[in-house]
Amino acid sequence: MILRARQGADTTGVAMKTIIEPFKIKSVEPIHFTTREEREAVLRKGFYNLFMIRAEDVLIDLLTDSGTAAMSAAQWAGMMQGDESYAGARSFYRFEAKVRELTGMKNIIPTHQGRAAEKILFSLVGGPGKIVPNNSHFDTTRANVEFTGAEAVDLPTAEGRDPDLIADFKGNMDTAGLEEFFRRAPKGSVPLCMMTVTNNSGGGQPVSMQNIRETRDICRREGVPLFLDACRFAENAYFIKKREREYATTPVKAIVQEMFSLVDGVTMSAKKDAIVNMGGFLALQDDELAARARNLLIMTEGFPTYGGLAGRDLEAIAQGLDEVLDEHYLQYRLRSVEYLGERLVKEGVPIMQPPGGHAIYLNAKKFLPHIPPHEFPGQSLSVALFLEGGIRSAEIGSVMFGKTDASGTFVPARMELVRLAMPRRVYTQSHIDYVFEVVADCFAHRETLKGYRVVEEPPMLRHFTAKFAPIT
Ligand code: F0G
Repeated sequence: MILRARQGADTTGVAMKTIIEPFKIKSVEPIHFTTREEREAVLRKGFYNLFMIRAEDVLIDLLTDSGTAAMSAAQWAGMMQGDESYAGARSFYRFEAKVRELTGMKNIIPTHQGRAAEKILFSLVGGPGKIVPNNSHFDTTRANVEFTGAEAVDLPTAEGRDPDLIADFKGNMDTAGLEEFFRRAPKGSVPLCMMTVTNNSGGGQPVSMQNIRETRDICRREGVPLFLDACRFAENAYFIKKREREYATTPVKAIVQEMFSLVDGVTMSAKKDAIVNMGGFLALQDDELAARARNLLIMTEGFPTYGGLAGRDLEAIAQGLDEVLDEHYLQYRLRSVEYLGERLVKEGVPIMQPPGGHAIYLNAKKFLPHIPPHEFPGQSLSVALFLEGGIRSAEIGSVMFGKTDASGTFVPARMELVRLAMPRRVYTQSHIDYVFEVVADCFAHRETLKGYRVVEEPPMLRHFTAKFAPIT
């Protein structure tokens, strides 16, 4: 990918201005071109819900960066080395040693993905009357807290709530808000505090080391453990290196180790920054909590040395956790997202600012001001991106979070966003240039886009299966 570095940007030892993909491609997968007529038919058949269409019919799939990465030759080689023993597999010990080296945690418990770690953790510490604060809960984290009868409280900063503001650490926890939260929370009601890095629900924005440290200090004073939802820990660490002055020359690995040294536990979806297609873990300092977690693990995931994964998956995760710390990779990764953001902004396309680590979030409310929230501007835009260019994105707006209250009144989501999430090491600069062209084309004829109505929906998590029809 030919990505011009910003003036003065660090090129991590490479003398050129152009940031190239730090890999060459040995194995390729064809993508499937369709005509506009075919895409129209695909949309009709899938009831204008992009979760309900076949991936084969998608040209560029930006639905998620989760589990969609390209593994390296070393990861595939590791998979052949996987030890599939039920108990005590060599692959587990390699995985455990790597996770321990980075996180410093005493207890490392593999799970099949991030939400399985959340399920086990909150089954143990949640329950009615409990409250869990977080800079911003991801939906599965919130669901796992609330499912136990506990309450999930989001405490993003005022900066983080403003989609147009350009600031370095818009993922931060509102520490003044957290102190206030603790003053009001009944004694013994907060089993743990969580921080999500990077803050996915808040636009993929990073959290500063200083903010993690301040949050740790508050939690310590309150006697409450602090946990990281660490899915995108390496991207967060690279933002710290770029934006927090005292870390400018610190190796990313040391930044990562420092981030984890400030917390008592970790939930992780390896499908993001371990660059694998499936996996996760729960890591804990507390031996007693870990013993209880392992008991639950055996019931739902498996024996503690494989926990829902094959030995080969554990090998791939261990290898991926090394590769993700390569600073050429991280520079290219963050720059590719930023590059798309820059081109869109130059074209006047409204996006959530600044570009996040794993995705660009288009601001559909500003993109399509003529479509009111109850006609789902985000849905309209994501359908248009597919129709125009075969691009699949994710609506994060009133389809996902809008509600109808008891009186039958529609309550819209706070923001109407469309997420373009970048799979890791999958697409090249021409793919990104093409994505830009399709978005710019939709922007040029935005007045012609129409709203949508729901024709059928399930009682919860409707965005996955709801059926839509265009409003004509
Ligand atoms: N926490 C965060 C911040 C996430 O972004 C995700 C997944 C999870 C937890 C759950 O992990 O999928 O392995 O069970 N996010 C994906 C996404 C699905 O598209 O953003 P999981």
